[in-house]
Amino acid sequence: MKVLSVVGARPQFVKLAPIDHAMREAGVEHVIVHTGQHYDPMLSDVFFTELGISAPNVHLGIGSGSHGAQTGSMLTALDPILDEHQTDWVLAYGDTNSTVAAALSAVKMHLPLAHLEAGLRSFNRRMPEEHNRVVTDHVADLLLAPTEVAMGHLAHEGLAARSVLVGDVMTDVLLSARDRVSQRNSSLFGDLAGPGEYYLATLHRADNTDDPERLAEIVSALAALDSPVILLAHPRLIAKAASHGIELARGMLHPHAPLGYNDLVAAALSSAGVITDSGGLQKEAFLLRVPCTTLRTETEWTETIDLGWNVLAQTHSEIVAAVTRPRPADTEAVPYGDGHAAQRVVAELLDRAR
Ligand code: UD1
Repeated sequence: MKVLSVVGARPQFVKLAPIDHAMREAGVEHVIVHTGQHYDPMLSDVFFTELGISAPNVHLGIGSGSHGAQTGSMLTALDPILDEHQTDWVLAYGDTNSTVAAALSAVKMHLPLAHLEAGLRSFNRRMPEEHNRVVTDHVADLLLAPTEVAMGHLAHEGLAARSVLVGDVMTDVLLSARDRVSQRNSSLFGDLAGPGEYYLATLHRADNTDDPERLAEIVSALAALDSPVILLAHPRLIAKAASHGIELARGMLHPHAPLGYNDLVAAALSSAGVITDSGGLQKEAFLLRVPCTTLRTETEWTETIDLGWNVLAQTHSEIVAAVTRPRPADTEAVPYGDGHAAQRVVAELLDRAR
């Protein structure tokens, strides 16, 4: 069997790692196409190196742009690559512009398409990720769902016959990283804050960064917290804060460069709490049993809320109250699978290859 994976943005490299390992173990021929949506070394190369992912076979070098320009350039570049490789499966990951480009290119080339992390829904049509995942699910031949909730959404949209529950591949990566980093003493932030004495924050969604008032309210809430907040600043946040004239380094708030995966897990594990608008980090916090505050009006990962480990917060006072809330009750629940989702994905692909 031959599978072609299309990836391009940071969270997709994390998901690719266990899939690439499982493909290699199963003797599957695996072609990796990197669209180039993320190109900064700390958003891309560091994941390939740290997580032992095979080097991409093809790099499209697309880079940044408006949604249409970026997605369109990917489509143009993908057609000849998919045509050349004629794989048994094209595998699309998650919900970025690279995902929807892979999906459209594959179906138009009549190549079987599988969607990893299918069935997630925010029901927020303002999110670019929501269009990307809905479109990809509806054109894919095989929907690889991470959770029962995702399976329910797919069934509700008439897609049950093409759906299979495999678990969450991010759990596979997280559990092995947790074991690696738990051995080492996390003193990533030097004199600024020791273990348990800081909050770890990330912020990159357009809904939070692009409106100056919204960004200013979040920044002022984080600056007013009771412990240092280490803000791992995505380039989009740096650019938007500068153009809105919003100073990120103030009060308790300390901007910091993005971290590689192992350092991120170590930093989250040693923190007093995570504050984020990232989907992946909400789940990682839950799996590490670190309380999470999510700076959004909704989340796709509803299990984290239902189990008490994640709270949604929008306004200044909601953010302060959520971050400083008491630690939730412990839970043994495993809504995100057993850490072997990638092997299940490869088995499903092998089973259904033409
Ligand atoms: C993208 C995904 C989002 C995912 C996120 C993870 C879409 C629509 N969004 O958002 O789902 O959660 O990745 O990080 O696909 N930039 C750089 N260097 C880079 C990449 C981007 O400086 O290597 C800057 C550019 O100014 C660019 C901006 O960040 O315009 C946004 O990048 P883009 O890939 O369009 O979206 P993200 O916000 O990263």
